[in-house]
Amino acid sequence: MTDLTKYGPWAVIAGGSEGVGAEFARLLAEAGINLVLIARKPEPLAQTAGVCRDLGVEVRELVLDLLASESVSTIVEATADVEVGLLIYNAGANTARSPFLDAPLLDFQRVLDLNVTAMLALVQHFARPMRDRRRGGVLLVGSMAGTHGSHAQSIYTGVKAFGRLFAESLWLELREYDVDVLELVLGVTRTPAMARVGLNFDVPGLRVSEPADVAAEGLANLTNGPVMVAGGNGPAVERGSGPDRARIVLGAHEAMMALTGKR
Ligand SMILES: NC(=O)c1ccc[n+]([C@@H]2O[C@H](COP(=O)([O-])OP(=O)(O)OC[C@H]3O[C@@H](n4cnc5c(N)ncnc54)[C@H](OP(=O)(O)O)[C@@H]3O)[C@@H](O)[C@H]2O)c1
Repeated sequence: MTDLTKYGPWAVIAGGSEGVGAEFARLLAEAGINLVLIARKPEPLAQTAGVCRDLGVEVRELVLDLLASESVSTIVEATADVEVGLLIYNAGANTARSPFLDAPLLDFQRVLDLNVTAMLALVQHFARPMRDRRRGGVLLVGSMAGTHGSHAQSIYTGVKAFGRLFAESLWLELREYDVDVLELVLGVTRTPAMARVGLNFDVPGLRVSEPADVAAEGLANLTNGPVMVAGGNGPAVERGSGPDRARIVLGAHEAMMALTGKR
């Protein structure tokens, strides 16, 4: 098991109130790492913060929308007096589930800004001092969706592919400074956000991960970057990679239609 104390004394979790983010928070609190937890809804955030405080660590709650223009400066200000040894960027589920021509550009822009623009700003801000200290970690939560194109997921698949390639490059750049970078690639995971959009976790044949399991897998593999496919989904990612893109994209589409009963 990775020694998490080397990533303290503080960790920032963007999207640290629910699901996988809440489990990261709990595990880090158990390891004695103080937390800055970020989310929009105050109640789940307060609940997770309370669980972590009960485990004996300090917790700062930042109720904000990462899409707001002032969010990054608020986070920078709220962490100016502490040493952040770990950044986890977890927020990023798809909020634009339409074919690309059938929804306003702004809907897609939000997916792009949450998964790319805000993430890049926070990584640059927190990883620079980590490089100077020659110590720290960056964990980005990715998705199997980034393996191949999917119907009505054009931007989400793109940003998750970007996240993985970005993580691979950053890993290469920070290796010599002992800063660990990991893209934790998730398959379907039983999170409150997915439950709210009505995802049926009970579809026969669907592999579903639990937030506590994938969070533990991610933290245990911080030193094993640049990419960790969680939940036993490695073979599926392998099937989705390769040069014959039409075969892969159409095959995955057919399989998804069959799984969800749409064909
Ligand atoms: N669940 C899955 O099946 C699945 C599969 C593959 C990959 N993933 C990836 O796993 C990560 C977590 O997904 P999730 O299902 O838990 O949903 P999510 O909507 O990304 O929520 C995760 C956390 O981020 C916060 N959050 C979301 N949008 C935010 C925003 N604009 N500003 C500030 N905080 C925000 C949420 O709290 P608030 O809503 O209160 O802000 C929550 O604490 C995402 O990166 C997603 O792409 C999930």
